[in-house]
Amino acid sequence: MEIVIVDMQETAGSLVADAISHLVESTVNPVLGVATGSSPGAVYRELGRRVASGQLSLKNTQAFMLDEYVGLPPEHPQRYRVVIDREFVQPTDIDPANVHGPDGQAQDIDQACADYERAIAAAGGIDLQILGIGSDGHIAFNEPGSSLGSRTRLKTLTKQTRVDNARFFDDNVDSVPQHCLTQGVGTIMEADHLVLLAFGQSKAEAIHHMVEGPVSAMWPATALQFHPHVTVLLDEAAASRLQLASYARQAWDSKPAWQGL
Ligand code: GLP
Repeated sequence: MEIVIVDMQETAGSLVADAISHLVESTVNPVLGVATGSSPGAVYRELGRRVASGQLSLKNTQAFMLDEYVGLPPEHPQRYRVVIDREFVQPTDIDPANVHGPDGQAQDIDQACADYERAIAAAGGIDLQILGIGSDGHIAFNEPGSSLGSRTRLKTLTKQTRVDNARFFDDNVDSVPQHCLTQGVGTIMEADHLVLLAFGQSKAEAIHHMVEGPVSAMWPATALQFHPHVTVLLDEAAASRLQLASYARQAWDSKPAWQGL
């Protein structure tokens, strides 16, 4: 894994936007994986700035979401499709019809999950997947104990995740849905390039396990140790439990700028 420790979230946003710009310029049918949560916010803001200034266009880009709550009404402000529309689609020029997510309102959940896997494959797979991480080491909504080979499926959210996400639901944990549809760890691992962002002390333990711990379904993000191209962007607080933080700084500082992420 390449570890990049940044001074502030905007620096990470700019580096990831550079990688996305390069992808869009060098690929005929670019496919982006988008994540919700607060961590990718600076990336979407920077993409919006570049589109507004004419430096970037996402008109030919397709995007696939990682996950979706089950049971929230279509217009609910915390439904992940609504969040992605607000934070990523509206500030850029991506065609909303090119943005896909698992159908959290489907009658036949298994069918909806299988259809979603097929849609990702039909688009040619995901070129660059943006990821956050839960404080318990989940990626997307693959909670501790998830199969590291899992595919898109229904999951029950842990109490920890519902408590963490209550801040988006007026601090009322009872309003956070109990179930979700999520890409599996195995689905995520098929993306060409995984770009994970984590900021703040509350992520330090999960980052420590993900980068330096033994691979375990109890910390699903540790599966990323098997992926050939992972970039992890952290602030000092999220990096504070890494034994190899100083080596990571040295490696990044000596990397030629033109190489990008
Ligand atoms: C949710 C999302 C994850 C996200 C995590 C962390 O659980 N399903 O995809 O990574 O929250 O969110 P944040 O970036 O707000 O800390």
